[in-house]
Amino acid sequence: MNSTAQDLATAFTDRFGTEPDGLWSAPGRVNVIGEHTDYNDGFVLPFAIRHSTTVAAAVRSDRLVRVASTFAPDEDAVVADLDELSEGSVEGWAAYPLGVLWALEQSGYRCPGMDLLVDSSVPVGAGLSSSAALECSVAVAANELAQADISRRELAVIGQLAENRMVGAPTGIMDQSASLLGEAGHAVFLDCRSGASRLVPLDLEGAGLELMVIDTRVSHSHATGGYAARRRSCELGAEMMGVAALRDLSVKDLAEAAGVLDEETFRRVRHIVTENARVEDAVEVLTRKGPAELGPLLVASHASMRDDFEISCAELDTAVDTALEAGALGARMTGGGFGGSAIALARVGDVPAIRSAVETAFSAAGFRSPVIFSVLPGAGAARIA
Ligand code: GLA
Repeated sequence: MNSTAQDLATAFTDRFGTEPDGLWSAPGRVNVIGEHTDYNDGFVLPFAIRHSTTVAAAVRSDRLVRVASTFAPDEDAVVADLDELSEGSVEGWAAYPLGVLWALEQSGYRCPGMDLLVDSSVPVGAGLSSSAALECSVAVAANELAQADISRRELAVIGQLAENRMVGAPTGIMDQSASLLGEAGHAVFLDCRSGASRLVPLDLEGAGLELMVIDTRVSHSHATGGYAARRRSCELGAEMMGVAALRDLSVKDLAEAAGVLDEETFRRVRHIVTENARVEDAVEVLTRKGPAELGPLLVASHASMRDDFEISCAELDTAVDTALEAGALGARMTGGGFGGSAIALARVGDVPAIRSAVETAFSAAGFRSPVIFSVLPGAGAARIA
């Protein structure tokens, strides 16, 4: 057990008076490309990062769940009875872990009561899926403690169910899939309709590259506002075009769509259709040429999100534009939008200049200082002790 894991096990015993049965970790994610395509049955290409959430857990002999976190060591644990949980019945951060246990039972599995202590290194609100990391750490822990033997693909669906129905955020399947299916040195190419996934090599270090994350520190919530509105526009667009999901349209259908849809819905649809094509192109580029050639696809993706899908903001645009001017090969916002982080793909030697240019631009614009760091594709969720 490494020292962080040992500290968490000790904190668990201090808090609950017993030793944990085990510790399970699940990572956050960065999405290389494919934004808002997941709930349109489309394609995504995320990878698991090394920032992760760890849960220490022990089974109880009753149906109670007690959940606490290392962020609020002085707060009482949230206590719930598994037989009394219902959709939307839990508020605050405990809705994620309790939602997963509720979703497991909704999916036909019997879950024992348990004590849970959560610790996380995934920054909250940065668009790196701290919520999926939390859901998936609890999902893999509960899967083992309940001896349920659930596949990773189904665990992702259970995490999504928790987020949709307990938290109330109408999000897709991408984040949980990245957290559960990721592997070091690879991105996960996922077909969100069939659930089929394939690992695509993403050797940034070997190519002399870094993927920088620029956290704008503009916070966002997918339970309210813009995210849900975009999802509704996509559903309307699909209905008006007579298809089950926007996945069923291709770039050559856009001319017809322009005649059928109102101007705004058309732009929303055009983003999804072109973004799906960019994901497929990105997989092709990575396979045949390597990550250094991804730049133009990232840039086109950002323009589409800024102009057609309208989910960027001044801070994200400044991060992307400045990174490109300072020598990044490509850059785009990542995640649901309206804040959170941008990514910039850069040669290792250009990283310091890009960092300082972005910091200077943020300060000149009067924005909060961004938090900038680099990420590599890491392993998916696993038991660590
Ligand atoms: C959030 C959601 C995902 C996905 C992205 C946008 O991260 O949780 O399901 O829709 O936004 O690509």
